[in-house]
Amino acid sequence: MSTTNETSTQPERKKVIFSAIQPSGTITLGNYLGALKNWIALQDEFRCIFALADLHAITVRQEPAKFRHNTLEAYALLLACGIDLEKSIFFIQSHVHTHAELAWILNCYTQFGELSRMTQFKDKSAKHADNINVGLFAYPSLMAADILLYQADLVPVGADQKQHLELSRDIAARFNGAYSPTFTIPDPYIPKTGARIMSLQDPTKKMSKSDENANGWIALLDKPEDIMRKFKRAVTDSDGGVRYAEGKDGVNNLMGIYSCVTEKRYEQIETEFEGKGYGDFKTAVAEAVIEHLRPIQERYAQLIQDKAYLQSCYAESAQKALSISQRTLSKVMKKIGFLPG
Ligand code: TYM
Repeated sequence: MSTTNETSTQPERKKVIFSAIQPSGTITLGNYLGALKNWIALQDEFRCIFALADLHAITVRQEPAKFRHNTLEAYALLLACGIDLEKSIFFIQSHVHTHAELAWILNCYTQFGELSRMTQFKDKSAKHADNINVGLFAYPSLMAADILLYQADLVPVGADQKQHLELSRDIAARFNGAYSPTFTIPDPYIPKTGARIMSLQDPTKKMSKSDENANGWIALLDKPEDIMRKFKRAVTDSDGGVRYAEGKDGVNNLMGIYSCVTEKRYEQIETEFEGKGYGDFKTAVAEAVIEHLRPIQERYAQLIQDKAYLQSCYAESAQKALSISQRTLSKVMKKIGFLPG
């Protein structure tokens, strides 16, 4: 009986969320709808820890001044999207040394064959054939370190990161099996709509900031007139009807975007545009996106002015992240048998 009472007075452990994004250039509408929008929504219910994955970003060459600028811009932009530091931790990966340390350790528990099978590695090494570095190859074990350091239960990401998450789970289970339970096994948290926002120019490919055709993606900081122009040029089909159906990749993608920003279901959207052409539909999607992004852009414009405030935010979050992650790293090192210093 007394055991039951004791347990019932214990505060229930809030589930932990971890996720990260690379600050390597523009943050796109794909990043926002696939991942960031969920980060913001989950902050009340969960213990949320978010990061800018700048260590991941150097797997492709970065120009130093631009990289520094992009990192600060991304930090301000994510705060503008609604990361609330009263509730969540939001730090910059390279400021917290435990990430690189655990990543090295996990490299020794990850097989060459497993990393060779990662589709992102295959794609990126084809794209950057002159720089297939070891970091690009070992990228998923750094990602596993990010997640496992915080004992995350859930990881909100877009569908393209699912394979990396499965590998993180395998690495965690392998380590737990070799020693004793050490890491929480994380589950992916992938949205039903928005998990894979496609390029506006080639709707069979995901929207990506590395796409050379800038008309294919919307940046969160794009001007309203650019957003309107890009949507007006979006590739659709010759069928002419606003319907969600197989083979209508361009229209399906626009419906997905419209549904995410207006929270309308597909049937509602079909009814709304019955008898109307793609021109009207594209304008409506663009307007909805512009209105959705307007407050974010306004908050961003204020935040980016205040560098001292931003610095105090990421420094404080890094301290908090270090103290949590250090506990996991110490446990791991002890289990492996490193002689304590
Ligand atoms: P990154 O920076 O490429 O993308 C950040 C998030 O955006 C999602 N995303 C998309 N979602 C829908 N449609 C799209 N077109 C689209 N493009 C990108 C991604 O799925 C991701 O959730 N390796 C990660 C960053 C990372 C990470 C982590 C994530 C580092 N450590 C630990 C989770 C946990 C990446 O490069 O994401």
